[in-house]
Amino acid sequence: VPSVLFDNHGRPLEYLRLAVTDRCNLRCFYCMPEEGIKYLPKQELLTYEEMERLVAVLAGLGVRKVRLTGGEPFVRRDLVPFMDRLSQISGIEELTMTTNGVLTAPHVPELARMGVKAVNLSLDTLDRARFASITRRDELPRVLDTLYALLAAGIRVKINAVVMDGQNTQDLLPLAELTRDLPVDVRFIEEMPFNGGSHAAAVLPWNHHRIREHLALNLGELTPVPARSGDTASHYTVAGHQGRLGIIAAYSRTFCGTCNRIRLTAEGGLKTCLYDQGVLDIRALLRGGSTDEQLAEALKAAFRNRAANGFEAESQRPLHQLSFESMSTIGG
Ligand code: GTP
Ligand code: 5AD
Ligand code: SF4
Repeated sequence: VPSVLFDNHGRPLEYLRLAVTDRCNLRCFYCMPEEGIKYLPKQELLTYEEMERLVAVLAGLGVRKVRLTGGEPFVRRDLVPFMDRLSQISGIEELTMTTNGVLTAPHVPELARMGVKAVNLSLDTLDRARFASITRRDELPRVLDTLYALLAAGIRVKINAVVMDGQNTQDLLPLAELTRDLPVDVRFIEEMPFNGGSHAAAVLPWNHHRIREHLALNLGELTPVPARSGDTASHYTVAGHQGRLGIIAAYSRTFCGTCNRIRLTAEGGLKTCLYDQGVLDIRALLRGGSTDEQLAEALKAAFRNRAANGFEAESQRPLHQLSFESMSTIGG
């Protein structure tokens, strides 16, 4: 078992978020403009073989959890056999994914078979018309099929709902009510300025404090669950509910001090923070003939030079373009 690598702020390297594609079959307005983003040509994406090699090198540096993200992971062909190979890499104890659920339901038995224990499902409303207006696609029924298929297969589900002022605040309680009778966690996320287009608002009308007050006012006392290091969500139980509620202060960034993760974008850029612009071109190293040892050294050097808080570091740059990126290229 490799020893854990710590960054220059004492935070461990344990968790890789791997964006397998920048493409998506939805058009959530907080993520992409209607016409979509300019997708990467195929040769600019990492191949599955390249990703497997990189994951093996990272496992050697102590990474034990991999989350597939995108875009939508299931939009990439042959994802399941790739996941199967990843799950067999020595040192990878936990393989999981964040999916929008549109194409996921038919794959649930295969996920269960390869030992996937938990999946995060993006779902911002239970109202079909609002789902269609937020995502610009009428796909709520298929997403709900995925939710029930995952639960039936015994896979833990965390629902991610982005809280959008003037869009879905009436959906918070119906979503939270799912936890009453179902063993799901429902997590509410502060909206972040990654919509592939215009700049973010200067203030966030629904920050984590307001979300919590709103839930408590309507559901009764929220009892905090002690946080695990590296968690992005603060979790709460509600008396009589099977599932937990969670709040992710993604924009307020209350959790940077214990951040245990790195990210790889679909084009093979390493990010040591969601908010940085990419600190290492892994694709160039992979395609330029680097050995595994050279890759490991480059990864270590980047990880030992992390910003304490990538948002603050980036916003000090002149002409920073944070808000023009899409979450779909970053991988969330
Ligand atoms: P687990 O803790 O493994 O369940 O995953 P997660 O909650 O970190 O990941 P998920 O893909 O479900 O993302 C939920 C929300 O948290 C998304 O809006 C992410 O963009 C956000 N998020 C995840 N990691 C970070 C992070 O390091 N910084 C910030 N600011 N937001 C993050
Ligand atoms: N702000 C907050 N969360 C976002 N996500 C996508 N775009 C944003 C944004 N601008 C969420 C998705 C998905 C997760 C990976 O990131 O809903 O659940
Ligand atoms: Fe697709 Fe996820 Fe972006 Fe929505 S948030 S458009 S589901 S990548």
